[in-house]
Parts: sequence; structure tokens; C-alpha cells
Amino acid sequence: MTTTLVIGANGQIGSALAQLLEQQGQTVRRATSRTPSQPGEVQLNLATGEGLAAALAGVDQLFLMTPPGYAQHHELLIPAIDAAQAAGVRKVVLLSAMGANADDNIPLRRAELHLERSGLAWNVIRPNWFMQNFHTFWLHGIQAQGQIFLPVGDAKGSFIDTRDIAAVAAKLLSSDDFVNAAHDLTGSETLDHTQVAALLTHAAGRPIGYTDIPEDALRQGLLGAGLPADYTEFLLVILGAFKAGYAERVTDAVQRILGRAPIRFEQYAQEFRTHWA
Ligand SMILES: NC(=O)c1ccc[n+]([C@@H]2O[C@H](COP(=O)([O-])OP(=O)(O)OC[C@H]3O[C@@H](n4cnc5c(N)ncnc54)[C@H](OP(=O)(O)O)[C@@H]3O)[C@@H](O)[C@H]2O)c1
Repeated sequence: MTTTLVIGANGQIGSALAQLLEQQGQTVRRATSRTPSQPGEVQLNLATGEGLAAALAGVDQLFLMTPPGYAQHHELLIPAIDAAQAAGVRKVVLLSAMGANADDNIPLRRAELHLERSGLAWNVIRPNWFMQNFHTFWLHGIQAQGQIFLPVGDAKGSFIDTRDIAAVAAKLLSSDDFVNAAHDLTGSETLDHTQVAALLTHAAGRPIGYTDIPEDALRQGLLGAGLPADYTEFLLVILGAFKAGYAERVTDAVQRILGRAPIRFEQYAQEFRTHWA
């Protein structure tokens, strides 16, 4: 039986992925940075490397991602790839981000290249911006002032549902049909934030708008909320890429890999409406 170690198994993608792999009959080791509280959980801190070797012992496959909050992704990911190789892991699926391959010096790209050159069976998945950000990262402004506050002008994004990312990862970890390739994952439609706000308004039954704010206003907000300076600058850089139109691209990867269309924003908004209502 195949054993897969899932990093971020309490998170949005990891929890859905672990469930899908178990449904397929795999043994799943769920990594947590906290003290394990459930059967099947293993403690592992990617930032320090603690618990990594023990968690990987006897594992066939690894789902690898950086927890949010870290800007130097390669510093966490490369040691994990090396540890997987040392432990005899066969395949690694790495969660990256769309646009990470724009330059080989980008931290996520450095980790991608390390994996591609490792000799392990590999996949890199590069999702676009998550729909789920609207009930996590950007929720506070919506709840407090009925506004999405972002410095992205009227640029559009092909937002993706994290459940589609988990489903793609599950497929890549249960077959070799798409092995040794990177896949840019997007939704099927492009929306600007005024259109997103209209869909959230409709779903939540209360008015929600979009305010295009100066980049520095977001910087001050993120720093004030306690985000590390380097992670704040990382977020501003990728939001700048969104504003410049780089998040507009639509790919057919979800359809190709899953054999079905990606979840639409309207469906996401309906299913998560209690967060904004
Ligand atoms: N948001 C976007 O639009 C977007 C777009 C493209 C790519 N991404 C990428 O998606 C990833 C986030 O995915 P997600 O939303 O599924 O994550 P998430 O829900 O925030 O989950 C991350 C998990 O990581 C675990 N964790 C925290 N610190 C850790 C540590 N030091 N070592 C090991 N595990 C740790 C946490 O679980 P415990 O508390 O149990 O440890 C947490 O549940 C990031 O890598 C980000 O770059 C995001």
C-alpha cells in the first residue's frame, strides 16, 4: 500500500488532499507543526527541519508546500526535497504558485528546479490566486467595512478553488499519467475585483464593494497586523504582478488532469456565503 506524507495537512489544500488519498485507499501521514492530537499525525517543522527525517521514514510519496508567512521558500523546501531523497521517497508533488517560473532566482523557482533535477519522480503545481482568500486573507475588510481593499486596479484574475488544487494533487499522487511536469492551475473564467465583489454581494445578501487602495496603505495594514516585513514585501510584489495582468491567464490543466471543469467563482461564493453574510 502507498504511504503519502502530506505537509500542511490541517490546511486548506492539505486537509482536502489527505481525505481524497485516504478515500483512494492510501495510507496518509498528516504533518503538523503542533503536538499531534489525532491518529496518523506526525510532528514536523519545515522551518527548522525538526521531525522531517522521522516523518519521511517508510514514505513512498510527499506532498510538499511552504506554510504561509515565509518569503524565502527555498530555505524550507530544498532541505525537505533532500530529506525525501535520502529517505527513498519515490515521488514529490510540490505546491508552487503561478508566475514562480518567471525568473530562476525566485525562491519558489529555486525549489522547483532543485526538485526537477533531483532524479525523483516529480510534479510541480502552480495555482493562480485562491478564491478562498476572500474568506481568509481579505475577510477582515469585508466583515468590518463591506469592502475588498487591494492595490490591484481593475486587473483580472483566473481565481482557483483550493478544492480543485487538492483534487489535482490527489490525481498526481495516484497515477503517473502526468509525471515529471509542471502544471499551471487556474479557474475557467477571469474576474476583476469589482466582479468578485458583485458575486460576493449576491451570495452573501449584503452589499460588498471593492476599493483600489495604494500599495503603501496595504503595506502599513499588513505590517500593523504583525506580518513579517519580508513576507509583506513578497505579497506586495505578487499583487503588483496581479495588477500588471499576470494573473489573467487561463489554462486547461484542471480539465485535462481531472476530466472536469474547474469550480466556478459563483459556486465558491454560494458555498462559503456564511463567512460574509
Ligand atoms: N493564497 C493564494 O492565493 C496562493 C496562490 C498560490 C499559491 N499559494 C501557496 O499555497 C500555500 C498555502 O496553502 P494552504 O492555503 O492550503 O495553506 P494553509 O491552509 O495556510 O495551511 C498551511 C498549514 O501549514 C502548517 N504549518 C504551519 N507552519 C508550519 C511549519 N513551520 N512546518 C510545517 N507545517 C506548518 C499549518 O498546520 P499546523 O498548524 O497543523 O502545523 C497549516 O495548516 C502557500 O505555500 C502559498 O504560497 C497560495
